[in-house]
Amino acid sequence: STGAGAVAPQGASVPQAPSIPLEATVLFGSQTGNSQKLAKKLSGKLQEQGFQVTLSSMIDFKPNGLKKIKNLFVLVSTHGEGDPPDNAISFYEFLHGKRAPQLEEMSFSVLALGDTSYEFFCKTGRDFDQRLEELGAKRLAPRVDCDVDFDESAEQWISSVLEAVSRSSAGAQAPLAVTSQSVSGTQASEYSRSNPFQADVLDNLNLNGRGSDRETRHLEISLENSNLQYEPGDSLGVYPRNHPRLVDELIEALGWNEDELVPLPKSAEERSLKEALTGYYEITVLSKPLIEHMAELVPTSGLNHLLAPGQEQALREYVKGRDLLDLVQDYDLNGVTAKSFVSLLRKIPARLYSISSSPKAYPDEVHLTIRKVHYESHGRVRYGVCSSYVSERLEPGQTLPVFVQENPNFKLPANPDTPIIMIGPGTGVAPFRAFLGEREELGAEGKSWLFYGDQHFSSDFLYQIEWQRWLKDGVLTRMDVAFSRDTDRKVYVQHRMLERSKELYQWLQDGAVVYVCGDEKKMAHDVQAALIAILKQEGGLGDEEATAYLTQMQQDKRYQRDVY
Ligand code: 2AM
Repeated sequence: STGAGAVAPQGASVPQAPSIPLEATVLFGSQTGNSQKLAKKLSGKLQEQGFQVTLSSMIDFKPNGLKKIKNLFVLVSTHGEGDPPDNAISFYEFLHGKRAPQLEEMSFSVLALGDTSYEFFCKTGRDFDQRLEELGAKRLAPRVDCDVDFDESAEQWISSVLEAVSRSSAGAQAPLAVTSQSVSGTQASEYSRSNPFQADVLDNLNLNGRGSDRETRHLEISLENSNLQYEPGDSLGVYPRNHPRLVDELIEALGWNEDELVPLPKSAEERSLKEALTGYYEITVLSKPLIEHMAELVPTSGLNHLLAPGQEQALREYVKGRDLLDLVQDYDLNGVTAKSFVSLLRKIPARLYSISSSPKAYPDEVHLTIRKVHYESHGRVRYGVCSSYVSERLEPGQTLPVFVQENPNFKLPANPDTPIIMIGPGTGVAPFRAFLGEREELGAEGKSWLFYGDQHFSSDFLYQIEWQRWLKDGVLTRMDVAFSRDTDRKVYVQHRMLERSKELYQWLQDGAVVYVCGDEKKMAHDVQAALIAILKQEGGLGDEEATAYLTQMQQDKRYQRDVY
């Protein structure tokens, strides 16, 4: 074969017009894997239309090729307070920097993924969209901003992009069935985010001991007959149910009848109001768009004050930590019908949890490690929707709607001899139980080092027996623990890392891959600072060099984070 060219069937009398290959580049920046999945989908469809497609994560993309691109499609999520995902940062910075080239020859379109309950909704996608235009590129199809329930909007964007790109390249000749790079197909299972599997709950245990402030559930779930597959590092999406008390109070506050039939989200199907609010609609999060729609629905509610010019800060403060019950108590929504009320709500979003089992160690099962979240806010105790559901109301024998969310950005090294360093305090340790279970099954030879921490040794040492067994068997080479409330002074994982800085640096020199899982703002940030300090101290690097070293590690997939 001559590679990428179209091969005319033998003996065919087709005139050999030199075909101009239609090219498209699809770049994704993905934290949880959603934009990556959609990017694959778009690539597949572009190939069906005869395009020669380059599909790449932004982190692997060499920006010096940018000027040559005719059709660029960007799919990117926004994360935290408007931040790009880890694997989008370098490209984001390049494009926004002085070295970005003019792109007059380019056509582009952006799909932005995000969450309307965040102030900087879809900011990364919006920034890319605006910046590409500034650089002279032509917008082929309008940007689409997706909320957490992204399927439908993403489909629409893909269709509009396909239509626009085929219109704009009409005249150019599409070679038949050309593929420059194979785009792997999607998973075999019929179950997905939009069609979750009703999985049997096999076990549900509290991992914390007596006297702990924590309650952490170890869930064992059956995937039998689902065809769902996963690898260590992947997450499980779980659809929770709202707290019945909150549902009852909401229905009572508005004087509705809980048996009234209402439609399900974006569907013609109906359920009782009580069931719809419990299992299908989000009632625990307020957002600016929701307030706007409510204000429109009930102009006399008083909500318009919050939307008046100059009230941005007041609105931001109001929505923070409040739910729909607060809204109906604080504003006058009397008279609004249940049907029109639910029509403004979002579908209850799935929660993603890092899987804590190796599929090789537990075939047909998946384990999760979920900490119960509860806190007080505005004079009322609030519960984490999914964690309180799992802790209080989910029993073995019941089912849970689940799907597998691949996480290509958090994977064991392909070579089982590669050393790994795992930093995962609290429930951040979950994927490392999967990693070590997998390495045990594989008989991997690579050394491994776990940094773990929580509040108290005696009550909060999750999976203690398993780590100790792995240490004994040599599956785990080293473990350093930091129990923050057993001593006068707080000790955290990053303190343990700094205490071991010489060895840790040596492991990095030996090619170790570093994994960080857990709290982002505090823990992961401090852990990153510790890594930089170690590189400076042991490697003699300056500030910028140490940062560049870490960026290079990230580029080489030797520094991977699963943080939230
Ligand atoms: P703390 O609750 O005593 O502050 C798992 O939740 C562990 O992470 C706990 O021991 C918690 O300690 C700790 N933790 C809290 N903030 C942290 C930070 N900035 N860096 C690392 N660990 C932290």
